[in-house]
Amino acid sequence: MSGHPEGRAEQGGGLLEIRDLMVVFDGFKAIDGVDLTVGEGELRFLIGPNGAGKTTLIDVITGLTRPTSGTVTFAGASLAGRKEHQIVRLGIGRTFQTSVVFEELSVLENLDLAASFRRPLPSLLRRRRGVAAEVAAALETIGLQDLADRPAGILSHGQRQWLEIGMLIAQGPRLLLLDEPVAGMSKDERERTGELLTEIARDHTVIVIEHDMEFLRRYASTVTVLHEGSVLVEGDVAAVQADPRVQEVYLGRKKEEAA
Ligand SMILES: Nc1ncnc2c1ncn2[C@@H]1O[C@H](COP(=O)(O)OP(=O)(O)OP(=O)(O)O)[C@@H](O)[C@H]1O
Ligand SMILES: [Mg+2]
Repeated sequence: MSGHPEGRAEQGGGLLEIRDLMVVFDGFKAIDGVDLTVGEGELRFLIGPNGAGKTTLIDVITGLTRPTSGTVTFAGASLAGRKEHQIVRLGIGRTFQTSVVFEELSVLENLDLAASFRRPLPSLLRRRRGVAAEVAAALETIGLQDLADRPAGILSHGQRQWLEIGMLIAQGPRLLLLDEPVAGMSKDERERTGELLTEIARDHTVIVIEHDMEFLRRYASTVTVLHEGSVLVEGDVAAVQADPRVQEVYLGRKKEEAA
């Protein structure tokens, strides 16, 4: 499908490089000196307790939030000062914690609309016949072919999340940022999503925010743990899980929840 062989040519470091990032909201350090490198083709999981700064980090990468200081470099280009739509055009796509599908449009129309974001204006004005290749490919990847002509409003929660992921893929990004894609899903839906992420990661770089350790054990390779705006630990799932600092952060939270 949409491979990006040209990306391998970038010298040395990662596809995404974040250095000494700070985000301060009214004196509160939401991101406090984050360094993060994600290589082309990685499926990286980002975890951490509520308020750790996970969504803020994605907001900075996608141009929604301006960093107070530090740098974000994507495919060798600085993202400083770039607007959200420019960052999408550079090849970074994201989902939000809340849904953005158009309920009255069909599954296919939602995918087509997302894909049209990358098309040059003249082709938008021309009436197309049939389904564009990137739209058909995205539909197949998310496995919603049987629901292609149904309004998105009838989708189950899980199907809607897959549609959103499909809408990103249809835009042909190199890097996908997914904010808690399995939140609120059933066990079966989680499993299908894990498989979907694994498949997508074959020809994309993917960063997934997720809390669920069980899900991580099954699908993650490298995990970055954020805590109070800083990277606490980074490594493979087993090492991260065994790390006493991670256990403290998560067990401390469990105790609070139990209380
Ligand atoms: N626009 C904002 N203005 C002020 N404070 C903010 C803003 N956005 C986030 N914060 C604060 O920054 C901290 C990090 O928030 P963030 O949403 O990034 O956490 P998170 O790790 O995504 O948490 P969750 O797991 O709950 O989604 C929180 O304390 C939050 O209240
Ligand atoms: Mg969040």
